[in-house]
Amino acid sequence: MKVVSTRAELAEARSVLTGRVAVVMTMGALHDGHVELIRRARAEADSVVVTVFLNPLQFAAGEDLARYPRRLEADAALSERAGADLLFAPLPAEVYREEPLVRVSAGPLGDVLEGASRPGHFDGVLTVVLKLMHLVRPDVAYFGQKDAQQLASIRRMVFDLDVPVEVVAVPTVREPEGLALSSRNGYLTPEQRASALVLSRALATGDVAAGRKLIDTEPDVELDYLERVDSTTFELRPDGDLLVVAARVGTTRLIDNALLEDA
Ligand code: PAJ
Repeated sequence: MKVVSTRAELAEARSVLTGRVAVVMTMGALHDGHVELIRRARAEADSVVVTVFLNPLQFAAGEDLARYPRRLEADAALSERAGADLLFAPLPAEVYREEPLVRVSAGPLGDVLEGASRPGHFDGVLTVVLKLMHLVRPDVAYFGQKDAQQLASIRRMVFDLDVPVEVVAVPTVREPEGLALSSRNGYLTPEQRASALVLSRALATGDVAAGRKLIDTEPDVELDYLERVDSTTFELRPDGDLLVVAARVGTTRLIDNALLEDA
């Protein structure tokens, strides 16, 4: 696996990749969820590019950008073992040569639920995802169902802006007890980790009222939202096909979701 950090190196390394090229975009601190995306890409495409870029544009002031875990060497080892051919790990100044004046807007998808709690977050995500798509020029991009609103926003950007990239969603990888894997789980104490299990259990009830009631019984977990939505528009709908949840456990914000089979 080749590791590059500049646009010029990426362009050169990309030019020798053959066949159908897949990309897996990450912010690093890779875990088994990321590894599953890379494995899927490896199995389904001819060449696999992994990007590790902690994107400042999608973090608001006061969020966890400064304390977000950085471990590029371990990320490179995991990427290589999962089958990546090329790792692109640029610094912010390489991606943002100037403060961007023009950004991608997530529109209404960026204003609700996660977007309401994190104003500007999805615009920052979409802007970097589109930039990385232009820099990597993949045929197909793999994203996790774990970040369902991000996935919906990316799908909608690709559709609305005619981006010539296929988007593939990969089911959420979980701990055996149910906790969705996240780079942020490392912030949790063992007690908080146990408390956080209530989120996947609340989703498993398949019901907004029952789920909220369950989370109410866990004093360490402060619910932000638990709602039923349409998985493509993120509009609140009683007959929606997706349950989404966000909560704070201590200072750590966690999100999870579950597709409803019967919807
Ligand atoms: P990051 O949080 O590092 O996640 C990278 C990719 O891994 C995303 O597609 C995410 O949905 C997926 N992922 C994370 N946890 C997962 C899990 N438990 N199971 C399956 N997939 C999982 O999401 C981002 O980075 C950024 O916003 C990014 C898209 C890279 C843009 O900066």
